[in-house]
Amino acid sequence: MCGIVGYVGPKQASNILVDGLRRMEYRGYDSAGIAIINGNGVKIRKAAGKLSALVEKLKFDTPSGTVGVGHTRWATHGAPTTPNAHPHLDQSGRIAIIHNGIIENAGTIKKALLARGHCFKSETDTEVLAHLIGEYYVDNLEEAVAGALWDVEGAYGIAVVCSEEPNTVVAARHGSPLLVGVGDGEYFVASDASAILEHTRSVVYLDDGEMVVLKRDGYRVRNLTETHLEKPVNQIEWDLATIERGGFAHFMLKEIFEQPESLTNTLRGHLLEEEGTARVRGLNLSDEELKRFDRIVITACGTSWHAGLIGEYIIEELARIPVEVEYASEFRYRNPVLDDRCLVIAISQSGETADTLAAIREGKRRGARTVGLVNVVGSTIAREVDGGLYLRAGPEIGVASTKAFNSQVAALAMVALRMARLRNLSVLHGRELIHALQALPDQIRQILDRAPDVERLAQKYHQASNILYLGRGVNFPVALEGALKLKEISYIHAEGYPAAEMKHGPIALIDQNMPVIFVAPRDAVYSKIVSNVEEVKARKGRVIALVTEGDAEIAKLAEETFPLPKTHDLLTPILASVPLQLLSYYVAVLRGCNVDQPRNLAKSVTVE
Ligand code: M6R
Repeated sequence: MCGIVGYVGPKQASNILVDGLRRMEYRGYDSAGIAIINGNGVKIRKAAGKLSALVEKLKFDTPSGTVGVGHTRWATHGAPTTPNAHPHLDQSGRIAIIHNGIIENAGTIKKALLARGHCFKSETDTEVLAHLIGEYYVDNLEEAVAGALWDVEGAYGIAVVCSEEPNTVVAARHGSPLLVGVGDGEYFVASDASAILEHTRSVVYLDDGEMVVLKRDGYRVRNLTETHLEKPVNQIEWDLATIERGGFAHFMLKEIFEQPESLTNTLRGHLLEEEGTARVRGLNLSDEELKRFDRIVITACGTSWHAGLIGEYIIEELARIPVEVEYASEFRYRNPVLDDRCLVIAISQSGETADTLAAIREGKRRGARTVGLVNVVGSTIAREVDGGLYLRAGPEIGVASTKAFNSQVAALAMVALRMARLRNLSVLHGRELIHALQALPDQIRQILDRAPDVERLAQKYHQASNILYLGRGVNFPVALEGALKLKEISYIHAEGYPAAEMKHGPIALIDQNMPVIFVAPRDAVYSKIVSNVEEVKARKGRVIALVTEGDAEIAKLAEETFPLPKTHDLLTPILASVPLQLLSYYVAVLRGCNVDQPRNLAKSVTVE
C-alpha cells in the first residue's frame, strides 16, 4: 500500500526520498511524488505510474533542498492520476502533505471548506486534510496539524511540510504505521523501515494518536494533548543485504530459496528435544493459562489465513482443542462468541493488515487473550497483542508471501506442540514432531535442488487458462495456497478445493485442457486421493501430482509427478508448498508478469 518517507538533515532530500520510495516499491502503488522545502516555497514533483516516471521527471528538474517528504500512492479516493498523486497542497500553497489511509469524514469537511471558498485540484481525501491544516495554520505547523487532526475521523499516517518552516517535518499516525529514523545529525520518518535502513537502524515506533516533530537538531514525539512523550529507541536487526535481491532475478525467487534459513531461524531456540515440546515464552502465557483455553480462534487474511487453516489441522490433531479459522475481515464484523477461555491467534507477515488488526482489537474487547504470529518486528499487530512469536523469516519484499507462510506454519506447529504436551501428547510423539521439524530445512534444500524440474513443468503448462489444485486433510489448505499464489502473480485463474469436493461441482470443468495439481503424499488419506486422481484421469484431465518420494502408484496415473521428501504427515504442507511457489514463479516469469509487484496488489493491506 502507500509509502511515506520524510527527511530533515544536511543532505539533498530528493535523492534520499526517491531511494526510500524505491525501497518501498514492493508494497504496491500506482503513483509517486515528493515535496521539497528550500527556502523558496514548496517544490512538488509527482507522476502517475511507476517510480521511474517520477525519476524521469526529476532528471532535468530536481528541486534542491534538505527537507522534504515523498510518497507512493495506492489509489483509494480517486483514480491513479498525477493530480491525485501525493503530495497535496493547502489552499495557500505553503503546506504540503502526504498521507496513507482514508479520512472517513473527508466529504463533510470538504463541503464546509468549499462553502468557505476553498478550491480543490484532486479527488482525494488527502487534499481535504491539507486544506484543513492550512486553515488551522497561523504560525506553527505542529499546532496546525494537531488542530486539524482533532477534526478528522478515519485512519492516517501523514507527513507535512510548510514553506514558512523550512527546517521542520511534522508527522502523525492513527491506524497507519509510522516510525522515526534517528540518524547522525539527520532524522527520518517512514511508514516502512526498509525506506530508511540505508541511513540508520535506530528507530522509534509511533503509536496511534502520536505525532513527531522532526527538526535539524532533533525530534520530539507528542500526541494531541501532551507535547512531550518519552519513547524508546529500537534497533532494527536486518541489514541492507536482506532487503536486496542479491543476484536473484526477483525477490520472490530469493525468498523461496531463503526458506531453509528462514525456517531454521523460526525454529531456533524453541525446540526442547529432550522434553519433546516447544518453548513459546513470547506468548506471555503460563502453562496453567495454556491449559485453561478450551477453544482457539485463528484470524488472518490471504496466505496467512491458509497457514491458519493448516494450523487448525495441526492443533486439533495434536492438542485436541477445537479451532476455528476466520477471515479477519469477516470476524471483525460478526458477532463472535468469545470469552476468556478462548485464545485468539492472529497471523500476519506484515503485522499491519488492517482487517487482522481490527480482529484482534475485537477479540480483546470481548475478553479473549490475543497472541500474534508476526514477521515484522515492531509492527502494530506485534505491539497490540498480549503476546506472540516473531517468525524471524527476515524481510519479505515480494508481494507474494512465500517464506513467511512456511514460517507461520512452523510457528503454529510449535504452539500446537506446547499445548499438546500440556495435555495428552506423549513425549515420544513430541520428539517425533521435533525431529521432523528439524529435518525440514534440509528437505527444503533437496526440493530447491529440483527447481529446474519445476521450471520444466512451468514451460509445459504456463499457457493454461485455468488450473485446479486439489488436496485432502492438512494438504487441502496447500491447494488453496497453491492456487492463490498462481493467480496473484501469473493472473491465471486457479481454484483450490478439497479433492473429494471436486465431484460436487468443479469436476464439470475437467477436460483434456485442464491441468489438475494434486497434493498427494502417502499419508492417512492417500488411498482416497488416489481415487480422486482416477476420477480426473477418467475425464482426460492432465494430472500433476506432488507425491512422497518413491511413490510409484500415482506416477502410473499422472502426467507428471514431483517427489517430496518423507516427513511427519502434519508437516507435509511446508514441503509441498515449495514446489507450488516455484511453479507460480516460473509460470509468471514465462508469461511476462511483474512477479514482485503484481497488478492491483499491495504487500501490506492497511485499508479495509
Ligand atoms: O501481512 P499479512 O500476512 O497480514 O498479509 C495478508 C495477506 O494480505 C497476504 O497474505 C496476501 O494474501 C499475499 N499477497 C499472499 O501472497
